[in-house]
Amino acid sequence: MTNSIKQSGAEQDRVYIFDTTLRDGEQSPGASMTLEEKLQIAELLDAMGVDVIEAGFPIASNGDFESVSEVAKLMKNAQVCGLARAGAKDIDRAADAVKHAKNPRIHTFISTSPVHMKHKLQMEPDEVMEAIAFSVSHARNHVENVEWSPEDATRTDRDFLCATVETAIKAGATTINIPDTVGYTVPQEYFEIITMLRERVPNIDKAIISTHCHNDLGLAVANSLSGVQAGARQVECTINGLGERAGNAALEEIVMALNVRNDAMPQWTNIETTSLARASKLVSSVTAFPVQYNKAIVGQNAFAHESGIHQDGMLKNNQTYEIMTPESVGISQTSLVMGKHSGRHAFREKIKALGYELGDNQLQEAFTRFKDLADRKKHVFDDDIVALVDDEVAKGADRVKLVSLRVIAGSEGPQQAMLKLEIDGKESEIDSTGDGPVDATFNAINALFPHEANLQLYQVHAVTEGTDAQAEVSVRLEEKGKTVTGRAADTDTMVASARAYVSALNKLLIKREKQAPDSLTA
Ligand code: KIV
Ligand code: ZN
Repeated sequence: MTNSIKQSGAEQDRVYIFDTTLRDGEQSPGASMTLEEKLQIAELLDAMGVDVIEAGFPIASNGDFESVSEVAKLMKNAQVCGLARAGAKDIDRAADAVKHAKNPRIHTFISTSPVHMKHKLQMEPDEVMEAIAFSVSHARNHVENVEWSPEDATRTDRDFLCATVETAIKAGATTINIPDTVGYTVPQEYFEIITMLRERVPNIDKAIISTHCHNDLGLAVANSLSGVQAGARQVECTINGLGERAGNAALEEIVMALNVRNDAMPQWTNIETTSLARASKLVSSVTAFPVQYNKAIVGQNAFAHESGIHQDGMLKNNQTYEIMTPESVGISQTSLVMGKHSGRHAFREKIKALGYELGDNQLQEAFTRFKDLADRKKHVFDDDIVALVDDEVAKGADRVKLVSLRVIAGSEGPQQAMLKLEIDGKESEIDSTGDGPVDATFNAINALFPHEANLQLYQVHAVTEGTDAQAEVSVRLEEKGKTVTGRAADTDTMVASARAYVSALNKLLIKREKQAPDSLTA
């Protein structure tokens, strides 16, 4: 059993963690994030020791370009990477986006499998080969740190794969990523592919080999670890395994597998494991993608012991049923915190312990809300404070604000909402009815601020236990193919619902200003 936070070992066993939550993760339908949310996640990834952050696909939209560029300016240690297809326009845009990073990286890719080349690219293999040489050397004209990926590598002809990798390295690629784009491979096969590249590509020692495994068969983590055993030294992964379709390899699972089973796998990462739970919560709440209860490492039940036999064993010695401690992944056993008598100093210390750095104004706002919450709620837990602070940090310069809400609910309909909003500094109010209190509240918002967006998701989740728990509400809106997720927490579910809806509207207003310059086809 290990409680160690970081492991260090021989340099040749060091595994670089490449996080693509903000790029591949954001490609999950409905997982779109605002600039502020991306920066919040990126700062945490940087602080916890992630080596490379893939912050977006700069050509995809002005919003993506801006996020890559802002993440690049902000990161203290992590390399910042922008994704680009094989054309000059994509690569130039990516170069422009990462140019302020301390260590900028361009990640360029093209498909190499027969099915992708024929049907998606409609290119012959020799044309693909030319595009590889061109794209990598073009990227190298901008930066020294160039990653190249043969998309759908695991369904690519093996001889062709070796030839493409050799060409990419010759053109200057410093990292060769081997994507299992459709989550098709199995651990033994992936091991053999990486081994084959190490044995057959003559210049392979000039590049780091990377894994990028999708989870369509539930094998993403196993395949990635198998790649590492075969000699890969970078793993591409995402927090909570977020990503296209069934997602990517989960960062927290890769890191903890290497950490806990260091006896079986000598490879190590530089990740501060005590930040894993916090990162999981943040990504889950920003995207409104719940973490399954029995998810490894960060699920609500990952350290819960229900059966009498297990509880008895745990009381005698926790090694009986725990292979790692909750503390080692940042889950605090003593999460009961403060009440209404707690002062500002204790609050500031708590915020720090939870991994936040707030400016004076944000701290003051958060403290006022904490006091208000402590007046209404008997026990304020760590999770309450996390919800409250995330809520505060997510707030921008909102054009629409909730001033007040009164709701009449009950068995005698119609339910009614009396709502006051401030829109661009001017207050207006309305009474609306609806089929239930949520419907009445949302109708009132629509009447005061008419818009065309469709409601895609309305989700309520209790932050802690008990009837006085805060409700954390997520509202996802869609307008012309763009989605945004608003969230808010309050002990009153209706107030949280109204604030979450208003927050989504504010995000939509920002998104409207950032249109895509180019439609994306690979
Ligand atoms: O899954 C994939 O092939 C990708 C590439 C762009 C690396 O995400
Ligand atoms: Zn991918």
